[in-house]
Amino acid sequence: MSLYIGIDLGTSAVKLLLMNAGGKILNVVSREYPLEFPQPGWSQQNPEDWRRAILEGIPALLNGFDGGEVAGIGCGGQMHGLVVLDAHDNVIRPAILWNDGRTAKQVDDLNNEIGKEKLSAWTANIAFAGFTAPKILWMRENEPENFGRIARIMLPKDYINYILTGIHSCDYSDASGMLLLDVEHKRWSREMMDLCGISEEQMPRLFESYESIGTVKPEIAQALGIPETVKVCAGAGDNAAAAVGTGVVGEGGCNISLGTSGTVFISSEKFGVDKNNALHAFAHADGGYHLMGCMLSAASCNKWLMEDILKTSDYIGEQAAISQEKLGENPVFFLPYRMGERSPINDTTARGTFIGMTLDTTRADLVQAVLEGVAFAIRDSVEVARSLGIEIRTSKICGGGAKSPLWKKIIASVLNIELECPVSEQGPGMGGAMLAMVACGEYPDVQSACEKLVHVASVVKPEPELVAKYETRYRKFRIIYPAVKNLFPKIR
Ligand code: XUL
Repeated sequence: MSLYIGIDLGTSAVKLLLMNAGGKILNVVSREYPLEFPQPGWSQQNPEDWRRAILEGIPALLNGFDGGEVAGIGCGGQMHGLVVLDAHDNVIRPAILWNDGRTAKQVDDLNNEIGKEKLSAWTANIAFAGFTAPKILWMRENEPENFGRIARIMLPKDYINYILTGIHSCDYSDASGMLLLDVEHKRWSREMMDLCGISEEQMPRLFESYESIGTVKPEIAQALGIPETVKVCAGAGDNAAAAVGTGVVGEGGCNISLGTSGTVFISSEKFGVDKNNALHAFAHADGGYHLMGCMLSAASCNKWLMEDILKTSDYIGEQAAISQEKLGENPVFFLPYRMGERSPINDTTARGTFIGMTLDTTRADLVQAVLEGVAFAIRDSVEVARSLGIEIRTSKICGGGAKSPLWKKIIASVLNIELECPVSEQGPGMGGAMLAMVACGEYPDVQSACEKLVHVASVVKPEPELVAKYETRYRKFRIIYPAVKNLFPKIR
């Protein structure tokens, strides 16, 4: 049976997954890399680190397996990051990532000078600090020399595909987050390219996520111990890949991803735009479209509290102190805006905030406040979807945070929806491998691959008593940010 490699190019690490054509995960290997914060709210990474992690990680992944059986590779990558290469294929500067907030000025210029209406007509979206076009404008204004050297513009996973195949490609789902794609018609927007001062020659060739862009370069095949016939599919943005990995394709499915970011992903067969542009309107990896809300700091809030502040890796032990009676009764609230926030408040100046502490506040209350604060912020995006008439009764859930039974219980009751937990929480890696299977003809389309390969292991139901308590808590959460938002720019 042929083997497939799924790559989840994340923000803290790359996760590599080996799967057979029957959907069995045979091995998972992870390699971490550093994240630089050169200024508060800025976030960048060295693409060379991704390259090294993958080229070292794949042989480790294949250790004990027959590399000769590998037929395809598919990558789901962190979205929006600006990777720029010069004419000699050198990386010009560190990649500016999806959670970087340096482009506040460019975003203001785009949304207010050019105007949200035009942006939305050209690209189906408005400008957010993490999107790629504002970063190109930032480079043009702040690093003109670097800007002048750009020969190729690409997204993080496209850099990996370029290293593997030598082909400069991008898929529609990831391209949607650049603010350079006419999402509805699936072509680069001439208006946006002109506005950014770039040409189509600098942009990658566009593919559907499940299409093969080509085969691995001979020297790469040799270094990785795989055949030269291995196909690399175009892959997808990590959220679209995760949706494939959790079986959220076609009309009306929902996936919540609790990774470094937190996203609510609603799949659709037809193109549609949120009239207020609070949710992103992007292409999906199954050939359709989706709406998405993205919070910039989700499971990473919990990781930060556990590892950096409380100096523990015992997540389960910390959460054990949060008893059933405490749920929905916590007087402490947490705003999870540690990197500013994207959906739905679109505020680069917002910051993480604990509020409501008293003399008897415990360590467990703070841990609980973080889990609840992230759940409330996810609900903010769900409420936007509900206001558009989209009914969400169930959702899949994936990402590192989905390993916590307590967190899933809180989220199910805060959102009042059932959470279906797939057998594996490795959404993007699994989706990447599945897209590669379609590219190699193992399945006729993404939908069939999902039907065959994705299975629900358990369901977490909302608890009526908790739903009522959390309704009250959420109403309170909703008044905190408007009350403090004007403070954030003043206390920087
Ligand atoms: C989505 C987004 C994040 C990153 C995380 O718009 O910015 O979910 O893709 O890797």
